[in-house]
Amino acid sequence: MTPEIRIDLTGGVLTMTLARPDKKNALTNDMYGALADTIEQAQQDRRIRVLLVQGDGDMFTAGNDIGEFAAIAAGKHGGERHVHRFLHALANSTVPTVAAVNGKAVGVGTTMLLHCDYVVLGQDSQLITPFVNLALVPEAASSHLLPLRIGHVRAFEMFALGEPLDAQTAVAWGIANKVVGNDQLRPEARRMAEKLATRPPGSLSAMKKLMRDAEKLVSQMHSESARFEERLASAEAREAFQAFAEKRKPDFTRLDGQ
Ligand code: COA
Repeated sequence: MTPEIRIDLTGGVLTMTLARPDKKNALTNDMYGALADTIEQAQQDRRIRVLLVQGDGDMFTAGNDIGEFAAIAAGKHGGERHVHRFLHALANSTVPTVAAVNGKAVGVGTTMLLHCDYVVLGQDSQLITPFVNLALVPEAASSHLLPLRIGHVRAFEMFALGEPLDAQTAVAWGIANKVVGNDQLRPEARRMAEKLATRPPGSLSAMKKLMRDAEKLVSQMHSESARFEERLASAEAREAFQAFAEKRKPDFTRLDGQ
């Protein structure tokens, strides 16, 4: 398993730590693979009562590794794409999942929270969904889950503009449970995970299953993936990835929407 995902099982809580801080925990194919394996195995392992996800460094995650997006767009990424297995594992998981979000949660960093059951935000955290800014479309069934959670107009604004949502607003809108001081983030998330781990696991997972339509979520993920793959291959996306690599703003004015 890649060292960029650290796994620890203590007291029934399996913690998955995104550990690539020099790249702001941007998620690579190997990292998705490790997360997918862990979530899949947790469904079978009776020692695991709760999953907890957190990020090292100054932010939760900068989202998908953009270099890997560019490689896929250029047809240079061979082998299995574990992101799909990761997203389906999230949709199908019946293990209660807690998230501790420090700093920015970009792209899939925010959309994965819609699959978590208890979300704690640090006071400086920001949720950002810049899919359109990258000429892509939302994923992780967020095109269904986000409007359902916060209403169409707010979800449209978050997706279309990709501007940061602050922690207090995220709680007010129902994306997260609470905001705590940064130094309290991990202890608070851990405290909640341990509390959940004392509840009857069969009952918790049956409840979680009833609360989520996993089949609908996976079907939405398939629809999103089809659009996502088209967008990845677009001239707009090539310009967005190139601009990121060159540390400049993208210029979409010359492109005609194809
Ligand atoms: N993919 C690949 N590398 C990334 C990355 C990503 N999503 N996000 C950050 N990095 C890398 C940077 O390229 C930089 O690498 P370098 O040190 O080799 O130049 C390093 O991580 C630090 O990032 P930097 O941009 O200097 O940090 P920052 O604190 O100024 O800004 C972000 C952080 C997250 C605001 C900014 O990096 C960003 O916008 N990243 C892209 C986010 C994104 O669009 N993700 C995809 C969502 S679908």
